[in-house]
Amino acid sequence: MQKITIAIDGYISCGKSTLAKALAQKLNYSYIDTGAMYRAVAVYALRNNFFADHVINETELINSLHNIEVNFKYNPLTHLSETYLNGQNVEQEIRTMKVSDLVSKVSSIKEVREKMVALQRKMGKSKGVILDGRDIGTNVFPKAELKLFMTADNDVRAQRRLNEFSSKGQYFSLDEVKQSLLQRDTEDINRKENPLIKAEDAVVLDNSDISKEEQLEFVLKLIADLQLIEKKQPLQH
Ligand code: DC
Repeated sequence: MQKITIAIDGYISCGKSTLAKALAQKLNYSYIDTGAMYRAVAVYALRNNFFADHVINETELINSLHNIEVNFKYNPLTHLSETYLNGQNVEQEIRTMKVSDLVSKVSSIKEVREKMVALQRKMGKSKGVILDGRDIGTNVFPKAELKLFMTADNDVRAQRRLNEFSSKGQYFSLDEVKQSLLQRDTEDINRKENPLIKAEDAVVLDNSDISKEEQLEFVLKLIADLQLIEKKQPLQH
């Protein structure tokens, strides 16, 4: 079967990465978590005191971009790829509530996005890759053969996020988590640079009421259909 590029965009806690990982495993594709890359930059900014309260010193961060190296390494024990910032594993640190709350200040900066997008295009240049994020289908790989736009009910998403935090020993109220994710969605949708928006040719997947297995089956069927169409009419690249 011909390998393709799969772009998954959507709101926070819609199960993008869960689906992407399951697909990558099933299809033997590589998976790039682009949100993790912005999170790693946020960790750098925090460590270097570029934040004063919730305000970021954009100039300092932009001037330091050449010192920031983000990449992924496969961990054979967990069978997952983990995020590295300047050679150090930051997989745990990038998932904290603190980083979650501050990361959109970093991901909205044009120069940060330019650097990350260039890296993402380089990492994903061969086919057989799945990327998830906010601007994959619209900006990073606008010619991706399959684009998904994921969404789910706000309460369902907040509960999923809460469960994720509690499983890591981080405890918050449901309302706190819901407010945080709605705030971050608003920032992603309204920012000037590559905002979160559904690509015209993306397939919407609302997973409020469907299982992980059903989602996987749905996407595998889309891929099978695509391969059939492609046989009749080769896609233009
Ligand atoms: O998906 P996530 O929560 O790990 O994303 C972290 C932040 O990065 C969030 O503010 C959205 C932003 N992001 C982005 O702007 N573009 C992407 N392709 C991926 C994430």
